[in-house]
Amino acid sequence: MQVFNKSKDLQKQINALKTKNYTIGFVPTMGALHQGHLSLVQSALQENDFVLVSIFVNPTQFDNPEDLNKYPRTLERDVNLLKTVSNQLLVYAPTVDDIYENTVTSKHFDFNGLEHEMEGKFRAGHFDGVGTVVKKLLEIVKPDKAFFGEKDFQQLQIIKTLVKKNNIPVTIIGCDIYREPNGLAMSSRNERLSESARNEASFIYKTLQQAKIYFGTKSANEVVKWVEKQFSNNKTLELEYFTIADETNLKPVKRKSKSKTYRAFIAVYTENIRLIDNIALN
Ligand code: PAJ
Repeated sequence: MQVFNKSKDLQKQINALKTKNYTIGFVPTMGALHQGHLSLVQSALQENDFVLVSIFVNPTQFDNPEDLNKYPRTLERDVNLLKTVSNQLLVYAPTVDDIYENTVTSKHFDFNGLEHEMEGKFRAGHFDGVGTVVKKLLEIVKPDKAFFGEKDFQQLQIIKTLVKKNNIPVTIIGCDIYREPNGLAMSSRNERLSESARNEASFIYKTLQQAKIYFGTKSANEVVKWVEKQFSNNKTLELEYFTIADETNLKPVKRKSKSKTYRAFIAVYTENIRLIDNIALN
């Protein structure tokens, strides 16, 4: 499996594949790969001849320097893991310089207001950083299709908007959330949790599932209050937000409408680590 560190070398290889009419799927990641990432790679392999996985811990999307420093970097293990998946894979693991040249800053984006909801409220500048790096990566790779997880549903909607607004010729595919056996959404950050916190964190998905049931008969506000109460009774998980929102514009729902699709979104801290999850409600 070829691992490229420089965009120029990668582009040469991609152009060679494209002249042979092969299709290219793209899975951008920040590494510390787990089954959730691999499920995206599998979807991409099903729909493309070759799949490029990028591994790059993007500094501009971290609002917290400690989170950036502590983000797990396991390139060798990641590459070995990908080798076991398929021989149709390529890896792009650039340096910060290769992506940002001299200025490690993000551009400012207007994502039709999606960027001001939920994660946008609690992680200043996060989506400008994500937009900046994903736009750069899509311009380097020029894939036919790019795959993103619904685990980061707001990010997925923002990337669809980025692509539309900038006329980037790529199809964005959203993929299901992959979970641990106990229901906890897989995340590179889970590696930093103690075993007991990992077990306790299964409460997040259990609560989301119960919220989904309640949403069938109760108002959004009643469900929000119920979830907040569950977390106020929990000693190890600290709720940052729980929101029920319209899937398309991510605005919190005030009154339910039968014609709209809703999703519940949650962010929780445990052992100083931030976990997010979401669930489709109808
Ligand atoms: P990262 O957190 O590494 O995630 C890479 C991709 O894997 C994202 O599309 C994310 O939604 C998806 N993913 C992570 N955990 C998942 C799970 N349990 N089930 C399904 N998909 C999952 O998201 C990023 O990196 C970065 O913001 C990035 C897009 C690479 C830009 O830097």
